[in-house]
Amino acid sequence: MGIDPDKSVQDYRALAARYDHATRRINGVRRAAVTALALQPGETVLDAGCGTGYCFQPVMAGIGSGGCLLAFDHSDDLLAIARNRAADAGWPNIAILQAAAEHVDFRDEIRRRGVFPPSALLFSYVHDVMQSEAALDNLLAQVMPGARVAITSTRLWPRSWWPLCVPVNRYLYRTHARYITSRDENFDRPWVKLAARMDDVRLHVYWPGWRYVVTGRLKHLM
Ligand SMILES: C[S@@+](CC[C@H](N)C(=O)[O-])C[C@H]1O[C@@H](n2cnc3c(N)ncnc32)[C@H](O)[C@@H]1O
Repeated sequence: MGIDPDKSVQDYRALAARYDHATRRINGVRRAAVTALALQPGETVLDAGCGTGYCFQPVMAGIGSGGCLLAFDHSDDLLAIARNRAADAGWPNIAILQAAAEHVDFRDEIRRRGVFPPSALLFSYVHDVMQSEAALDNLLAQVMPGARVAITSTRLWPRSWWPLCVPVNRYLYRTHARYITSRDENFDRPWVKLAARMDDVRLHVYWPGWRYVVTGRLKHLM
């Protein structure tokens, strides 16, 4: 089972109306990931696979009206909710693009808005995006070298937590069927491909052990 973008778009179409309610238990760790970015007023932030835009509010609180949030997703159903969220809150400094991570291009937005490329990158529950080297190539080519990164999502319990990891991981595998199309790839360490492009990588595990935040900085390539 590899990444399947068509299935992902269809699954999120079915989930859209109840997505925020269904994912309310991860609100805390999503906010912890944004906090870990230590955002500064005026910064440009990338929210990769923003979904319904749950993370918009804490990001906007960090960057203020002088900052810029660049957000994209391939699900128009989730983005409709994200756009309403931004409109209701009156945030003009958010650019929301409908595109696949492998192809999204926000250089025009950056030019048009006269802002710097993103210096802080949020990957919140985007397992499929993080398993796509093409997506990572495309996204990281458009951001500041050395940008700060925060990653959060579900990881399987480590095998060393045997025997309880067996039923727990079976539960996680089953309950994520409609959120992740590539559960067979790196579900135990979803961050590995992105972390290979980062320095100062740190893993913070949150209760009940399948929630985590990974932080670090993009490597400066020579
Ligand atoms: C579990 S949701 C997370 C949404 C949001 N970041 C959050 O924290 O609630 C995963 C998101 O990744 C998006 N996604 C998955 N693969 C993608 C791709 N290749 N390109 C763009 N978006 C993608 C889905 O449409 C979905 O909105």
